[in-house]
Amino acid sequence: MRGYRIAAVPGDGIGPETVAAARQVLGVVSVAEGFSLAWDEYAWGCDHYLRTGSMMDADGLEKLAGADAILLGAVGRPDVPDHVSLWGLLIPIRRHFDQFVSLRPARSLPGIRGPLAADRGPVDLVVVRENTEGEYSEVGGRFHRGQPDELAVQEAIFTRRGIERIARYAFDLARTRRGRVASATKSNGIVHTMPFWDEVVAEVAADYPDVELTKYHVDALAGLLVLDPARFDVILGSNLFGDILSDLTAALVGGIGVAPCGNIDPTRAHPSMFEPIHGSAPDIAGRGTANPLGQLWSSVLMLEHLGETTAARRLLDAVERVVAAGIHTPDLGGTARTADVTEAVIRSYATEERGAAGGRGS
Ligand code: IPM
Ligand code: MG
Repeated sequence: MRGYRIAAVPGDGIGPETVAAARQVLGVVSVAEGFSLAWDEYAWGCDHYLRTGSMMDADGLEKLAGADAILLGAVGRPDVPDHVSLWGLLIPIRRHFDQFVSLRPARSLPGIRGPLAADRGPVDLVVVRENTEGEYSEVGGRFHRGQPDELAVQEAIFTRRGIERIARYAFDLARTRRGRVASATKSNGIVHTMPFWDEVVAEVAADYPDVELTKYHVDALAGLLVLDPARFDVILGSNLFGDILSDLTAALVGGIGVAPCGNIDPTRAHPSMFEPIHGSAPDIAGRGTANPLGQLWSSVLMLEHLGETTAARRLLDAVERVVAAGIHTPDLGGTARTADVTEAVIRSYATEERGAAGGRGS
């Protein structure tokens, strides 16, 4: 039997609730599709930090290295500074395992109304965010702390290799979709790194004459995403631009609670990590009202990455049916609880799966 070892890191806030929901659903899916999942769950996060002084075990990265994939909930809590919690858990995993692609699809789903007053047409796009360098760098420092002349310097690091490989990923992906890449730049204001970004992206584009590349300054791109989101297919952005744009694209389709993210090492030398875009939402943690769909859609990306494409498609179909049926948690304006949505997905999946199996047998 095909089998995969999955490391689960539920983390903080609503993370444990959404990861538990995903494990429940994936248990049903794996049995139905004939593969096995072996779970190692690690209770790392802010509680761990307050107890031990570190966000994860000292050999945490070694523990994760043996996994086929990592399923992460959320990281962060108000009483622990974000730069401590995130740079102690999430960011080290992305970097150590060279998960240089952050893959963030955003799609209009029947049953979820976006916030725009006018219907701008269906959105179906993917943000491809560079995930290991750029503006998220540790190079810099604080000087003259507490003095009137205190200053902070933070250097953005862009490498040819880093830009080239993320651009290639975006162009390859566009080939499997509608053949368009929108590259986010800001070379009119940021005069060293962004012209370099543009040059390297254009060089890569020359290898893809069948893919249309359009360059947008990121501010204009943000405006266009609101005015005409349907025009976009693959959006390629640096670490910071991709971060900001992917919250915007998730919000545009009404789905911060639904939006998924894959942190992917396409070389497969290391495990990739799958997590919802939303944060740990401490205000609603422990109430059983968190939306599990972001975690479930991230699990769909994980199944795709593992090569379980039939399972991935069926699970995504089930998620979409549940959304369309209006079984919504409060973030989507409904009254359903985490468990209601989770059970509805399982029921919907199982009903279709039985139908498909019956169809195959007859
Ligand atoms: C995300 C988050 C993180 C990021 C934060 C929490 C460090 O916003 O995954 O988009 O900026 O990468
Ligand atoms: Mg973000």
